[in-house]
Amino acid sequence: MRIAIDGPAGSGKSTIGAALARALGYLYFDTGVMYRAVTIAALRRGIPLDEESVVTEISRNVLIEVRPPTPAENDGRQNTVLLDGEDVTWDMRTPAVDASVSIPSAYRGVREAMVDQQRRIAAGGNLVMVGRDIGTVVLPRAEVKIYLTATVEERAMRRHNELLARGRQSDYELVLSSMKERDRLDSERAESPLRRAPDAIRIDSTGLSPEEALEACLSVVRDRQRPATRPA
Ligand code: DC
Repeated sequence: MRIAIDGPAGSGKSTIGAALARALGYLYFDTGVMYRAVTIAALRRGIPLDEESVVTEISRNVLIEVRPPTPAENDGRQNTVLLDGEDVTWDMRTPAVDASVSIPSAYRGVREAMVDQQRRIAAGGNLVMVGRDIGTVVLPRAEVKIYLTATVEERAMRRHNELLARGRQSDYELVLSSMKERDRLDSERAESPLRRAPDAIRIDSTGLSPEEALEACLSVVRDRQRPATRPA
């Protein structure tokens, strides 16, 4: 079974997606890390992000590897992300990357390169894949589709608390305005905008604990696993 989870930044997709995959014994894959890796690759080469053809070329040539953390890397990360062999797991979670990642993600060529790889990863089945366009574009025939959301204020507060927990400086009002801007860019772009697939179940995690949100997702999966009952 392939489980697609989409939703805006901070809706709990990664936490809940990873927990759901653990509960089911499935592979977990967060597609956001790929767009973040391309953004870092361009920034490190000093390429202005509005140079679409150069950024697209980079996305076709970088090697992005995602693997479970080794015991030595056990610092709260869900996965280790390597960009051309270098560990960029935390470098890709900075406010600077948050503020610029929507630019490369809007380019058609970048998306094509990423979606190709994502479909290959999903071909083995039994996985939870999270992102913005999984149920609509990457895996339109996924057996389970969930659209996870929450109010922008709650999502910003979660991101703010995550940054503080990692010992970073954070200002809630700045996180909130950056998140509103990213929501706008992700949902208004022409290529694969963030939107709920018509057949996705919407779960609003506002005010829910991670355990409650996980339970809501598990119950969607259980409903799908139950054989359809026919009227006698
Ligand atoms: O889920 P995230 O915040 O790590 O995603 C970072 C950015 O990547 C997000 O602002 C939009 C983009 N993205 C995308 O366009 N499509 C996806 N499937 C996943 C992420």
